[in-house]
Amino acid sequence: MTSPAILDRITKLRDELRQHNYRYHVLDDPTVSDAEYDALMRELRELETTHPELITPDSPTQRVGAPPAERFAKVQHPQPMLSLSNAFDRQDLLSWRDRVLRLLGADTKLAFVVEPKIDGLAMAITYEQGRLIHAATRGDGYTGEDVTANVRTVKSVPLVLHPSGPVPQRIEVRGEIYMRIADFERLNEQQAANADKVFANPRNGAAGSLRQLDSTITAGRPLRFFAYGIGPVEGATLNSQHQALEYLRDLGFPVNPDIRRYEDFEEVIAYCEEWMSRRDTLAYEADGVVIKVDSFGQQRELGVVAREPRWATAFKFPAREGTTRLLEIVVNVGRTGKLNPNAILEPFTIGGVTVANATLHNEDYIVSRDIRIGDRVTVKRAGDVIPQVVGPIVGARTGSEQPWHMPEMCPSCGTPVVRHEGEADYFCPNRLCPEQIVRSMEHWVSQGAMDIVGMGERQARQFVEGGMIKDVADLYLLNEDSFAGIEGYGPKRIKNLLDGIAASKDRPLHRLISALGIPNVGSTLALTLSRHFRSLSRLADATEEDLRAIDGIGPHVAQSIARYFAEPDHRDLIEKLKQVGVQTEDTQPAPAPVTDGPLSGKTLVITGTLANMTREQAAERVQQAGGKIGSGVTKKTNYLVVGEEPGGSKYTKAQQLNIPILNEAQLVELLGATATESAPATADPDQSEAAFNQSEDQLKLDL
Ligand code: IVH
Repeated sequence: MTSPAILDRITKLRDELRQHNYRYHVLDDPTVSDAEYDALMRELRELETTHPELITPDSPTQRVGAPPAERFAKVQHPQPMLSLSNAFDRQDLLSWRDRVLRLLGADTKLAFVVEPKIDGLAMAITYEQGRLIHAATRGDGYTGEDVTANVRTVKSVPLVLHPSGPVPQRIEVRGEIYMRIADFERLNEQQAANADKVFANPRNGAAGSLRQLDSTITAGRPLRFFAYGIGPVEGATLNSQHQALEYLRDLGFPVNPDIRRYEDFEEVIAYCEEWMSRRDTLAYEADGVVIKVDSFGQQRELGVVAREPRWATAFKFPAREGTTRLLEIVVNVGRTGKLNPNAILEPFTIGGVTVANATLHNEDYIVSRDIRIGDRVTVKRAGDVIPQVVGPIVGARTGSEQPWHMPEMCPSCGTPVVRHEGEADYFCPNRLCPEQIVRSMEHWVSQGAMDIVGMGERQARQFVEGGMIKDVADLYLLNEDSFAGIEGYGPKRIKNLLDGIAASKDRPLHRLISALGIPNVGSTLALTLSRHFRSLSRLADATEEDLRAIDGIGPHVAQSIARYFAEPDHRDLIEKLKQVGVQTEDTQPAPAPVTDGPLSGKTLVITGTLANMTREQAAERVQQAGGKIGSGVTKKTNYLVVGEEPGGSKYTKAQQLNIPILNEAQLVELLGATATESAPATADPDQSEAAFNQSEDQLKLDL
């Protein structure tokens, strides 16, 4: 090939790769496979290797990072990067709007642009003649740091602009570099596995990844960019925020799809409130909503005071993180014998809620984050999930902090604890461990399980410690005499309790399966198993292969079920339950499969609590619509339905696999006609039909 031909080919390859890069990283809509992309990249790289004189800084091959810098150079921002005033409620928002109107005149026609406030790192990226020449952090708003080499590695930041109209001579694009929650969690897993620093939150992950002197490290980090504004511009006329965002989109920048423009301020408030309640459904952390007066003319008139523009404000969501002191780590024994380290904290408030305890997951979690007793720690409370200790604030140490290790003996029964190879958790192997019995009893009597009124943790503890019961089957052997000498039990109370216990013998099979507390078997899977096997003995005899053949059961869950029933203790328990008269067969007729429903052939997975139906009712209705409920998210899952307090792992997995995520209202919409036409047979005989129909009306209203 001659030189011009080579240059021609290189230019073509670059253009093509830029297009694919844009489609993949900005539009999320690739038109070629990874392999095809890689082949083009390889060809370009080979040509550039043999002709290094043809390499340009904006070539797609140059996103791999540059040689390490000694330090970041300081850069002056041509226009300061401002901060925002805060609003915490409707009243604050209205006061802000009223001030705007006071300054501009009460009759002024206003429009507002509202955007999720992404918790990342503000960035100013300058392009000259359409090429990225320079990128800087916000710093103190006036002076930032030159991070050009690092920003070049962020795939959603264009190195070359490709507008539909003329290229602006110069433009400074402002936006946020951030990390998606799922990517952040994966990065932290890798970091922990390599004994590297783990990050406290996605923002720290983004900042830590971007501020690397060695930009080849940045290149390996899952950073993304959203453009939300402009600094100085030459060669384009822009009159409003909304127009500027359209323009940025046209230049090839990712612009948040959830941005809206409203003229009615009530809609602005509704948007803020809606995102406050739906923040958990976003793929990234958002700590609020930014509200901007749309017109640039009005923005100029309103001006800036004390580094805060009067034309914008941030509606802040309640905080989810705070810091406090870790006073102690206690170990709780769960019903399966799993030892759970829990943090006892100096009580403090996060977003108005007092927190005094938090989970620490397991020993590896504590050790990999170097969390010590006495440390000042960051604690996170997302949605209504259990608060967790995120990590220590190492800079606040005094030297008196103590590292922690799992105790060698079970804190309840003193049996040496065990940890199976390849697993993170420690277990107390003693089946007669009192704490395990109390916990399994507590689960057995709970509402979704055998639902025994008058029994709870306190009673379970009392009966176990009083020597009245050694396993859940013993409950059914209790009689009046058993309560002799137990404080607080008169004849009436004893009768009520014994009646409650007797009534629980006839609970539907799926409730019994739930009550057993088989690891990885929740109420939805219990229903599937009950439908499939229709008898506890048949389930207990199922092989791993039998279980794996059931839709929605993967190898891990199949193994966990088979292992449970392989334990002689568990087989004995099943025999004993039969002997004491617990119903272990499915006594209801099997429903016919629906082949022409709106969800026929679809598999849905539910995570979290739904507001208007139990999971069992949801499963029932999905089945009536022809669909199936899977227990875990896999490639075959068609939708993930997210309720309140969703489980993180299902959510993360669905995001990774690009599986559509629905909220409850969207599920109801999908259920379509079946939601209103046929009166659903409730899976739960205790749930009165009237109550269920009432919640149906509620659902219809919600739509
Ligand atoms: S506008 C004057 N829009 O919030 C306008 N900022 O206090 C200033 N941020 O660290 C910025 N998302 O990086 C704006 N959609 C958004 C934003 C946003 C996040 C951050 C920004 C800065 C802080 C402003």
